[in-house]
Amino acid sequence: MPDNSIEFEDNFKKQFKYYKANRVKPSFHDVMSVDVLKDNEVITVTPLNAETDPRGALLGLQKQSLWHTFAFQNHPGLLLIRNPFTNAGQRYWIQRCLQEYPKKPNKLNIDIETNVQDWWLECFKDGECNRVLQKKLRWTTLGYHHNWDTKVYSDESRTPFPEDLLELSDVVAQYLGYTNFKAEAAIVNYYHMDSTLSAHTDHSEVNLEAPLLSFSFGQSAIFLIGGKNKSIEPSAILLQSGDIIIMSNEARLCYHAVPRIVPTEFSPWNHENLEIPDNTSSVVNFKYISNPSQLIAVMEKCINNEMWNQFNNYIEESRINMNVRQVLNESQISITDEKFNNK
Ligand code: SIN
Repeated sequence: MPDNSIEFEDNFKKQFKYYKANRVKPSFHDVMSVDVLKDNEVITVTPLNAETDPRGALLGLQKQSLWHTFAFQNHPGLLLIRNPFTNAGQRYWIQRCLQEYPKKPNKLNIDIETNVQDWWLECFKDGECNRVLQKKLRWTTLGYHHNWDTKVYSDESRTPFPEDLLELSDVVAQYLGYTNFKAEAAIVNYYHMDSTLSAHTDHSEVNLEAPLLSFSFGQSAIFLIGGKNKSIEPSAILLQSGDIIIMSNEARLCYHAVPRIVPTEFSPWNHENLEIPDNTSSVVNFKYISNPSQLIAVMEKCINNEMWNQFNNYIEESRINMNVRQVLNESQISITDEKFNNK
């Protein structure tokens, strides 16, 4: 996609540098937080759909009537659902991003250097935690693997998408009114306290009508979102653990970035109330999950503090973001599907 921004002043970069700076610490005065509502910035649109989806509880979500959803005055199409997860649900998803998703056949940024089959296991191979290896992981890709060089998805670089993340994305998409959304690609980003993510747009998907769902866990972040070129000054939004950002319609192709990770004031994964749902998995109809009792088994493991400790040590100093996209158009079966080749 052509970058028309070069002839303009790069206001995005200015803001990015401002929030990234360490020598002169940035003021957070202009950072929007949906916890501190300002009428001229944030609009509450809650509840979008208060009818509870029975799958939610087993996926670590609160009842939908309790969800708080916000829209942004200057960013049509951008929505934020403020942490709809239970505390045990937060533990579940943090554990999945650390222990499960970085396993082969998923792709990792460290593949060329290390080629490990199971990164988390490798980190504890010698009985204690290998912090150096832990900090090296910056991303894992799932489903259609993002190609960082060509930015083009290919049918040859596709592996099965995790059923639980497929189901979670479906529950969130249904809540938003996207009845045909299907998660087909994800990038899981791992940030440490000094990590940043530079300005970019996500435009590789064939289907750019489908929203992008972005789930945050762990430490907080300053998220910058601007317009379709970098001359537009971005807004800064505080993202906290459990928040879901939705980039849809006009916001789908906007520049965004993460210039700073911020220590969290809350650690919901460590709150005392770690209730897990009753095992009703056999009576809930899942669309994608073939073995729902596994969800409860993993949640039970996660609420055991001794077992949780290794994940806790990681998340106390890190942030994880799961960025989920639909790649294909409805009824398209592959990138090379002939029906869609002239598009
Ligand atoms: C991304 O845009 O890929 C990640 C954004 C985030 O970490 O919140």
